[in-house]
Amino acid sequence: MGWMAWERFRCNVNCDNDPYNCISETLFTDMADRLSEDGWRDLGYVYVNIDDCWSSMERDENGRLQPDPKRFPGGIPKLARYMHDRGLKLGIYADMGTDTCEGFPGTPLDKIKIDAQTFAEWEVDMLKFDGCHSNASEQEQGYPLMSKALNATGRPIGYACSWPVYQDCLPPKVNYTQLGKICNLWRNYYDIEDSWDSVQEIIDWFFDHQDVLIPVSGPGRWNDPDMLVIGNFGLNMDQSRTQMALWAIMAAPLYMSNDLRSISSGARSILQNKMAISINQDPMGIQGRRIVKEGSWIEVFWRPLSNNTSTLVFFCRKNTPCLYHTSLSRLNYTTGSYKIFDVFTETNMMLKDSIDFMVSVNPSGVVMWHVSAPTKMNLR
Ligand code: GLA
Repeated sequence: MGWMAWERFRCNVNCDNDPYNCISETLFTDMADRLSEDGWRDLGYVYVNIDDCWSSMERDENGRLQPDPKRFPGGIPKLARYMHDRGLKLGIYADMGTDTCEGFPGTPLDKIKIDAQTFAEWEVDMLKFDGCHSNASEQEQGYPLMSKALNATGRPIGYACSWPVYQDCLPPKVNYTQLGKICNLWRNYYDIEDSWDSVQEIIDWFFDHQDVLIPVSGPGRWNDPDMLVIGNFGLNMDQSRTQMALWAIMAAPLYMSNDLRSISSGARSILQNKMAISINQDPMGIQGRRIVKEGSWIEVFWRPLSNNTSTLVFFCRKNTPCLYHTSLSRLNYTTGSYKIFDVFTETNMMLKDSIDFMVSVNPSGVVMWHVSAPTKMNLR
């Protein structure tokens, strides 16, 4: 969990005209201040990730990557220290081709070792390794090689791979078993944008391919549907709750890309929802699935959680409210009465498996339940 610059701040390198929003040391220290002072860190949002466009256009005289001196005057070690002093971690970005996606120096095969060493010396805690401007055979060598090189540094560095995106996302081209061995998380699918269409497209892709994706993920190896765009301009509050709920169902990394200096209290309360976070971070790490898809209006998702609990999400895909009639037994809950906690209204109720109920869901929104196993008293 953490924060990542890309979706919100992109490749804005124009610090002369836009010092507040450009990719610079200040942007990352500002976000670190917000994470540590506004409750985010204590909820688990600890990574601060630099994305593309941080480096200088040239490597240094020793062939090492270096940050743009004007925008990162203190260098990366200073930023890493800033994070570590506040109980945060620093992530960085590189690309295994000749250039990054935005045309900054890449990390081709012969540079992998030296770049891994540089990141470790800088005390970086995570690397996102992109794949623009590289071909399939280079990727096949480069992604495992970077994994080895990072491990060889002796510093624990989380390894986020974008490889599947460059292999059309699915087997047989993508070898998810191998990814699980060399990467901690991987971008399965194309880039998220700040729009409801983009969020829906990602949801559809991940759940349409759930039978491929669920078995490959687990603790230490996660599918990554990309950043949370909650708190920006494209999603309303219902759609924001939908992104939070379904990213929790998917056991997805929670990387926000927004402006924590000016985020609305509504978006903040969704992103800081304790139950949604604890569902997302459940220690069993089993990715959930879509269990109902009724026509094109209602979908139900389920994820098993530790301590004999689980979560259910009802998602309304119409642009008018959905009134859905069902029962717990129809959703495979068959052992008596259950304690239901509504994650976003923070209310409790008891529900018997055989009882029919109606759930009312806002357009493009969700109702999210945490379901506790029946207690002995309630067993029939
Ligand atoms: C690719 C990645 C994005 C971002 C950009 C940066 O498109 O998928 O997440 O890192 O490159 O250029």
